[in-house]
Amino acid sequence: MTKKISSTFLLLLLALAFANAELKFVFQLYRHGARGPINDWFNGGEQKDIYNELTPTGERQHYNLGSKMREEYKGFLPSKFNHSEIYVRSTDMNRTLMSAASHLQGMFPENTGDFLPSNLTDNYTLPYFAGAKNYLPNQKTALPHNIQVVPIHTQPKKGDLVLQPDSNCQYYDDIRLAFYAQKKETIDFITQQFNTTYQQYSLLANKTFSNFDDMEDVDDTLQCNRYNAKWVPQISQELKANATYLSSLAWNFWYNQPELLRALNTPFLNQLMDYLNPVVQGKNVNGLKWVMFSAHDTNVQLISAALNLTSIDCLLHKRFPDKFKPSTPYYNCEFAPEFASSLIFELYQADVKVDEQINKGDFYIRLRRDGKYMNLCERNSTLCSMKEFTQRVSWFAYDFNAVCNTPPSKAVLSTQIITQSHNPQADQTNFFEIGFYLQSIVIILGGFAFYRSNLNKKKLEFKQFSDCEVGLTH
Ligand SMILES: *[C@@H]1O[C@H](CO)[C@@H](O)[C@H](O)[C@H]1NC(C)=O
Ligand SMILES: *[C@@H]1O[C@H](CO)[C@@H](O)[C@H](O)[C@H]1NC(C)=O
Ligand SMILES: *[C@@H]1O[C@H](CO)[C@@H](O)[C@H](O)[C@H]1NC(C)=O
Ligand SMILES: *[C@@H]1O[C@H](CO)[C@@H](O)[C@H](O)[C@H]1NC(C)=O
Ligand SMILES: *[C@@H]1O[C@H](CO)[C@@H](O)[C@H](O)[C@H]1NC(C)=O
Ligand SMILES: *[C@@H]1O[C@H](CO)[C@@H](O)[C@H](O)[C@H]1NC(C)=O
Ligand SMILES: *[C@@H]1O[C@H](CO)[C@@H](O)[C@H](O)[C@H]1NC(C)=O
Ligand SMILES: *[C@@H]1O[C@H](CO)[C@@H](O)[C@H](O)[C@H]1NC(C)=O
Ligand SMILES: *[C@@H]1O[C@H](CO)[C@@H](O)[C@H](O)[C@H]1NC(C)=O
Repeated sequence: MTKKISSTFLLLLLALAFANAELKFVFQLYRHGARGPINDWFNGGEQKDIYNELTPTGERQHYNLGSKMREEYKGFLPSKFNHSEIYVRSTDMNRTLMSAASHLQGMFPENTGDFLPSNLTDNYTLPYFAGAKNYLPNQKTALPHNIQVVPIHTQPKKGDLVLQPDSNCQYYDDIRLAFYAQKKETIDFITQQFNTTYQQYSLLANKTFSNFDDMEDVDDTLQCNRYNAKWVPQISQELKANATYLSSLAWNFWYNQPELLRALNTPFLNQLMDYLNPVVQGKNVNGLKWVMFSAHDTNVQLISAALNLTSIDCLLHKRFPDKFKPSTPYYNCEFAPEFASSLIFELYQADVKVDEQINKGDFYIRLRRDGKYMNLCERNSTLCSMKEFTQRVSWFAYDFNAVCNTPPSKAVLSTQIITQSHNPQADQTNFFEIGFYLQSIVIILGGFAFYRSNLNKKKLEFKQFSDCEVGLTH
């Protein structure tokens, strides 16, 4: 009873706190909506016509999400598009560009568009073209149904470190595979626990496999089929739940080598801070208040892992609490991003003292994943002061090129493999740089050979992501 009262009281306090804080800036990052399959598992190969592309369902998903934003952020988001206040960026891919366009149709719907000057003569609406005519005679709206068009900025994949960091990370595969090798014991445990799941999915897909990477691929195609109203075999809730769980593990395993995770997130986090800092410092001269990045599950997953919204450890603990005990508490534990999954960063300024960390006038962050507020900064609280958030992000930031585009000899691979090799002398070798190098190389080669031979033995078919676009950036 007391508990109930105190939590109601807490909610009241929170409500008061928010009534006394002003939303200053919103940064939105989302995954595109439903698409066609991107691999040939199951019946994926029969859908080459929509391979990779956003489907009508995906368009509607983002129209709905954009409309939801308009509704929930009414009063903050301008009701009519304003080029000073909104900035939109997308990866250079059809499905993300189209998702952004659909989203914006929801955000700035019909009847919020522009009007021609009332006394403009018709002839000025004609393009400079022989035989041109006005297709909207006697209409004062610039476009039919008074729709609004919104600029969507993009950059080529090559060089887009902010939104396609994995595709620009030359040594991504080496680091990932070394991480799998290091985590072999855990992966073997998973394989053993989910033997039934792998077997049942192998039957569905008519191809034998026993790893979570393939599992994720098959499940992805099934998920596409569900969203695009294609045939999907009946499977039990338990099997589906297992598939979701394994896909989520796969996603975390791809990026959670610690230095890799930091490096891949750094360009984005720097970009995020570049938007937030001017607002905090009162230097946001153009009045920008809403930034939207249209991207992939890769991006939602990476940022989620960076900010402790998910991890391998929390997922393992969730399913096997007796075997995997937390070393630090898990305040969130999200599954892999679904179609149109989103992260929304909200920057507030407090009008009154909110808690021990947040005083009157201070800025603080809240973060929504798929609409739910997440716990932040290792507390059971959805508020994190901008000061602490900044400190955590700057600690996390890492040198992208040092990890991704420099042969991962000692910075990343060797430490991982040495840890795994249980070599008692490994710790001393770094007194001798060259000796360390040579030994590392031997250990790395040994580690890989060991790993490869195990791969062959167990017929694990961890796919090589030679083409990050098709294989990785879903
Ligand atoms: C975009 O769509 C066009 C036409 O459908 C297709 O040829 C092209 O490969 C797509 N591009 C990308 C990057 O998906
Ligand atoms: C249109 O109206 C504006 C404001 O009344 C006026 O300044 C402008 O000269 C007019 N333009 C024409 C082409 O009549
Ligand atoms: C439009 O028509 C007006 C006369 O009504 C003329 O002065 C003007 O040059 C024309 N403009 C164009 C672009 O044709
Ligand atoms: C899965 O179970 C089957 C039958 O119980 C067994 O033959 C097979 O070796 C197991 N596979 C793994 C990877 O444990
Ligand atoms: C689901 O996963 C559990 C392991 O957590 C496993 O024991 C069970 O057999 C799986 N069930 C199916 C239908 O895959
Ligand atoms: C399953 O795959 C095998 C070859 O790998 C093929 O011969 C067989 O026809 C397939 N079965 C179905 C039902 O598609
Ligand atoms: C657009 O936003 C800027 C910055 O907030 C503001 O100064 C300007 O008045 C707005 N324009 C319109 C037409 O509302
Ligand atoms: C995430 O949790 C780790 C401890 O597990 C902590 O060191 C780190 O600062 C946390 N990051 C954020 C952004 O809260
Ligand atoms: C966070 O708070 C919830 C209830 O508000 C509680 O159930 C949960 O155990 C807490 N988590 C941690 C890690 O303290």
